[in-house]
Amino acid sequence: MEVATTVAEVRARVRDWRAAGLRVALVPTMGNLHAGHLSLLAAARFRADRVVASVFVNPLQFGPAEDFAAYPRTLDEDRELLGEAHCELLFAPTVEQVYPDGGAQATLITVRGLSSILCGQFRPGHFDGVATVVAKLFNIVAPDVAVFGEKDFQQFSIIRRMTCDLQLLVEIVGAPTVRAPDGLALSSRNRYLSAQERAIAPAIHHALQAAVARLDAGDRNFPGLESAGWQSLALAGLRPDYFAVRDADDLQPPHAATREMVVLTAARLGKARLIDNLRVPLVRP
Ligand code: PAF
Repeated sequence: MEVATTVAEVRARVRDWRAAGLRVALVPTMGNLHAGHLSLLAAARFRADRVVASVFVNPLQFGPAEDFAAYPRTLDEDRELLGEAHCELLFAPTVEQVYPDGGAQATLITVRGLSSILCGQFRPGHFDGVATVVAKLFNIVAPDVAVFGEKDFQQFSIIRRMTCDLQLLVEIVGAPTVRAPDGLALSSRNRYLSAQERAIAPAIHHALQAAVARLDAGDRNFPGLESAGWQSLALAGLRPDYFAVRDADDLQPPHAATREMVVLTAARLGKARLIDNLRVPLVRP
């Protein structure tokens, strides 16, 4: 596997591939790779001839009181895992490569409506940072297809909408959430959990499953479902930010045109803020 640390290097390599008629996939990550990321790489490999993974802890998407400094950086292990996963190119730029003006960059991408709700209410500016860096990565790498995890469902929705609104020439693919055997969604932030907290954390998946079971049974009392989910998390010892039933396309409360619902939650546990979701199709193929 090749490693590129500059924008010029990655652009040159991808330009050669595309000139040879090869289809290129990008898997953007912040590193500290686990089985969830490997499933994104597998999805990318399935859809392209060449796979690029980026590892970049993006300062623009962390709030001042968030874990930017503490975020796990494990580039040597990541490089190893990516090589084993037959990724062709690792793009691991410095902050200066992505933000040559330092903090002075004047342009931000805001996906209005989607960015300010749910997690956006609790992490102001977070999704502007995500949308901006993903747009930059698309411009730098110029992939045909990019793969994102559906665990971060709001992020996935925002990137899909940005790509459509800006008419970017990249196909956006979502890959299903990978879970531990007890249901906890894999996340780099799980490593912040103590053993006791780790034992509590599957309550998130259980609360989502309980809501999905009620929705599948025809229950449409959304406020009732949301407060039951919120309470079950609080009872298990988590501090929920929200527990919400939404339309899976626009993340608004379910409406007459809703074809699929999604139950989303974010909850704090010790030092970690964990997010997860489950989808509920209404129109079955
Ligand atoms: O999901 C992530 O790891 C990040 O938000 C992303 C998409 C790589 C942008 O920094």
